[in-house]
Amino acid sequence: MNNIIVAPSILSADFANLERDIKKVEAAGADWIHIDVMDGHFVPNITIGVPVVKSIKNITKLPLDVHLMIENPEKYIEPFAQAGADILTFHYEAVKNPKEILQKIRLNGMKAGISIKPKTTPDVLDGLYDYIDLILVMTVEPGFGGQKFMEDCAEKLQHYKNLKNIYLEVDGGINAQTAKIAVTNGANALVAGNYIYNADDTQGAINSLK
Ligand code: DX5
Ligand code: ZN
Repeated sequence: MNNIIVAPSILSADFANLERDIKKVEAAGADWIHIDVMDGHFVPNITIGVPVVKSIKNITKLPLDVHLMIENPEKYIEPFAQAGADILTFHYEAVKNPKEILQKIRLNGMKAGISIKPKTTPDVLDGLYDYIDLILVMTVEPGFGGQKFMEDCAEKLQHYKNLKNIYLEVDGGINAQTAKIAVTNGANALVAGNYIYNADDTQGAINSLK
């Protein structure tokens, strides 16, 4: 895990030209494709779901990093596995039994991710590390792209920095400057939506994060 993983968030892509916009970041050196699934309950926004993930699987070889911002994520583990998700991340705040859900994600052949919102303290995941492949630390309130990076949230990564074999991913407000702060605090995977999709030079933007 020496190299920094860059995962462009397609929330900032043009949904009418999704194939074009995914191939664009693939050609520019993206490592994963980050897909934000929102239900209008856990977060105020609604985005996309299982059928879109299935279609994306057919047009890219990159791992699909699926970020569920939904209530009752346990109901959707099998459908997302069948659709081709490689990493499935749910929110700690959305569930009562995180351990069982993490185990079920692995049993369905995916990497198990868990995310914490800005107001959640990092120690809530203590005791779960054996079941986690990825920790996603939100550096904005989940729900929308294009928000401002919260530096104090990135500092929560320090709590996890000695863990082995767990990706430490940050999501929200990442650009060349804030990526440095995130990586200094221990991040090894960076999600970026607006910064990558609004750049004139996609490859330059991705390289600047690496
Ligand atoms: C926000 C989503 C993010 C979002 C990031 O709730 O989880 O993945 O797309 O967008 P930017 O990089 O624009 O903050
Ligand atoms: Zn996300």
